[in-house]
Amino acid sequence: MSFDSKEEVLRWYESRPRTLTDDFIAAIPWHESRRYPFDPRLIPVLEYMRDVEILTDMYHKELRGTPTGRDPVISKFMERWGIEEVTHGEVINMFLNELGVRTGAAWKTDVRKKVPFFYHINTSLITALTNLAGSRFTATHMTFGAVHEMTTAQSYRRMIELAGHPILEKILRAIVTEESAHTNFYWSVARLELRKNKTAQRLARFVLENFYYPVGEGSLGKARCRYSVVGLFGTEPSALETLNKTVTERVSSLPGFAQMNSVSRRIEDLCLKHAHVFPADSYPETSGQMMR
Ligand SMILES: [Fe+2]
Ligand SMILES: [Fe+2]
Repeated sequence: MSFDSKEEVLRWYESRPRTLTDDFIAAIPWHESRRYPFDPRLIPVLEYMRDVEILTDMYHKELRGTPTGRDPVISKFMERWGIEEVTHGEVINMFLNELGVRTGAAWKTDVRKKVPFFYHINTSLITALTNLAGSRFTATHMTFGAVHEMTTAQSYRRMIELAGHPILEKILRAIVTEESAHTNFYWSVARLELRKNKTAQRLARFVLENFYYPVGEGSLGKARCRYSVVGLFGTEPSALETLNKTVTERVSSLPGFAQMNSVSRRIEDLCLKHAHVFPADSYPETSGQMMR
């Protein structure tokens, strides 16, 4: 798919029906969730994924304070994007509840409250800096967004493989369909913005090369991030190879990004340095009696 303008990308995005409709969610055989075993080591990973999705509200608010978020096309995209991401978090939470993981009525507020104060200070600083750079920073935001969406989709695909749970698979395949549409929006707009000038390319490349972090690392904490990254990508070498193909190679094809491999490098580095944080063996089989 190739687009000539942001408006065209937005029209394409808005023409797509939602995958996770109320009817789709209601038709999931939730009651069957406990029939299948689920590796408890993956529970904190699912919780991390859920919380990243729920915090989209916060990222959305942050972006609204920047020239990127004030762009009428991008802000229109973000309205629907924000709603879709929050649904992803809610549906993952419903699955966790089915497995027996308890969450209180105010779980979403609790996730937001736990975001460290330092994160907010840091974000205000970045917002001020991006305002200085003006709309030239839009290409960087869009490239970062594309990378986060691609790695998220890849993480869900890994979760499907690792968990081998049919109900979770049904949920995650639907989420991945929506994540792929998000990727396409960010990636297509990034490409259009990067094509405009070399300064935008250099800035975006510099930021991604030096400041790339896995989504959620700043807001949910390094320990939870490492656990999830190692759990998903550090247990089999083929997982990193796939990440390389699906994310790094695609990013390298953006204007000014030839041979850019900071995303794979960072993930690989985390997996090598922190391999011990993810337990090597699964606990004895547990089916639907999950704890907490
Ligand atoms: Fe999502
Ligand atoms: Fe997404």
